[in-house]
Amino acid sequence: MGISFSDKIILAPMVRVGTLPMRLLALDYGADIVYCEELVDIKMLQCKRVVNEVLQTVDYVSPTERIVFQTCEREKGCVVFQMGTADAKRALAVAKLVENDVAAIDVNMGCPKEYSTKGGMGAALLSSPEKIEEVLKTLVNGISKPVTCKIRILSTVEETVSLVKMIEKTGVSAIAVHGRKKEERPQHPVHCDFIKAIAEAVSIPVIANGGSQEIIREFVDIEAFKSLTAASSVMLARAAMWNPSIFRREGVLSIDDVIHDYIEHAVRYDNHYTNTKYCLCQMLREKLESSLGKKLHAAQSTKEICAVFGMTTFYESCTLSQEARRKSINIISQGTLEVDDDKNEEIVDATQLPVKFEKKDYLPQITPKMVLLEWCRKEKLPQPVYQTVQRSLDRFFHSVVTVNEKKYCSVLWDKSKKLAEQAAAIVCLRTLELPEGKIGEEESDLVHKRKRKMQYQNVGSGNLSEMPQTKKLHQEDDKTEGKDKES
Ligand code: FNR
Repeated sequence: MGISFSDKIILAPMVRVGTLPMRLLALDYGADIVYCEELVDIKMLQCKRVVNEVLQTVDYVSPTERIVFQTCEREKGCVVFQMGTADAKRALAVAKLVENDVAAIDVNMGCPKEYSTKGGMGAALLSSPEKIEEVLKTLVNGISKPVTCKIRILSTVEETVSLVKMIEKTGVSAIAVHGRKKEERPQHPVHCDFIKAIAEAVSIPVIANGGSQEIIREFVDIEAFKSLTAASSVMLARAAMWNPSIFRREGVLSIDDVIHDYIEHAVRYDNHYTNTKYCLCQMLREKLESSLGKKLHAAQSTKEICAVFGMTTFYESCTLSQEARRKSINIISQGTLEVDDDKNEEIVDATQLPVKFEKKDYLPQITPKMVLLEWCRKEKLPQPVYQTVQRSLDRFFHSVVTVNEKKYCSVLWDKSKKLAEQAAAIVCLRTLELPEGKIGEEESDLVHKRKRKMQYQNVGSGNLSEMPQTKKLHQEDDKTEGKDKES
């Protein structure tokens, strides 16, 4: 049976906020339906659908390997995919791409922001009823899942009701109404009377939206907003962004508890740390200037975010169990390199170290890749050549760099091609005992490295093939790694 929009409490679509961890948290706390953030049709059409067996998610991944939309079994029956579109053909193509992974498709017709309206999408659609009709009819006829749309109100009740009646005729299953005009800001009062007139004029479920802050401060207020608007359902944005436990019938939780619950989802689903940070900042609000807020601002990875909130143990156990899952489905595990058969040849004779590139340790303009390139130029060697592969199960990358006919790579796989290449460059630099370009790289360390390097050059007249055997260097570097971890 398909999803119903009657008598529901719903998480509104919110750019950057409505990603998977927030949607799952809203469901945990009692939301019936969750909308994803608005995703623009053109961007979605460039994505490929990938099943991540480690995280057990379905990811829509851009050509630059960014996850644009991530979903999982838990929300399959209640997640609505909201798209930004002004083109019926493209809208249908996107809907067909995602329809088997979601419960319904929504079209955003209310966003007044320039990035949306300038393409004729969002609130710009409200002035093109023929376009609205074409897009919605194409979707309703073209896919098997319910279609909804989210609008803002027009200048008068009559105009708005007339538009909504036309929308109803396209066959949509429900309509969400943000009770503000497109030129009104969130602090303007919400027009409950407009929503009420709409709810009384059509027979499809009307979802009332716009009541956060002014009307809805806790769960019981949701019911009050519903009666004021005579709507079938209620959709919450800001109130849920500030404290998603607003969906709890038993009452809101303290923001500390909510943050803890949010981080658990963010770590479990390997959410990008910048998105996690953004959502946590919305929850911290007034506390952003506190020392906790400042620490959050400074955090540069999920691990560091967890440390700020005293969740390092959780982070470690979760990442360990993800590693174990990787192992159990026969892919890489930390410290050993298991690769596809066709890649074996590439790395079998490579120098390998357990190295990861930590962005915060380097200045943006002095990365290990740049240092290595510069060194090759100085030594009149050919440019380093990177060969990078991606494995299918979790889409992690591995890179082998060839310098002076020798290969170097990390034993660890990375989330992005860039990171994997930087790691390979570090392995090469470290093996050759060259400076890596790290911030605060000890002068004495560099002098030591240079001395050692000169000794080798004396032995082999600068020929790198005369460098000490890889195994020895491995042992030394393993120690360095250990030290790095401790410090
Ligand atoms: C939004 N809103 C919004 N609307 C939409 O249709 N698609 C979107 O992607 C977004 N993105 C978004 C991001 C953020 C951070 C906010 C605060 C809002 C508008 C939102 O869904 C809702 O219509 C308004 O916020 C009014 O509802 P509340 O906040 O009063 O519950």
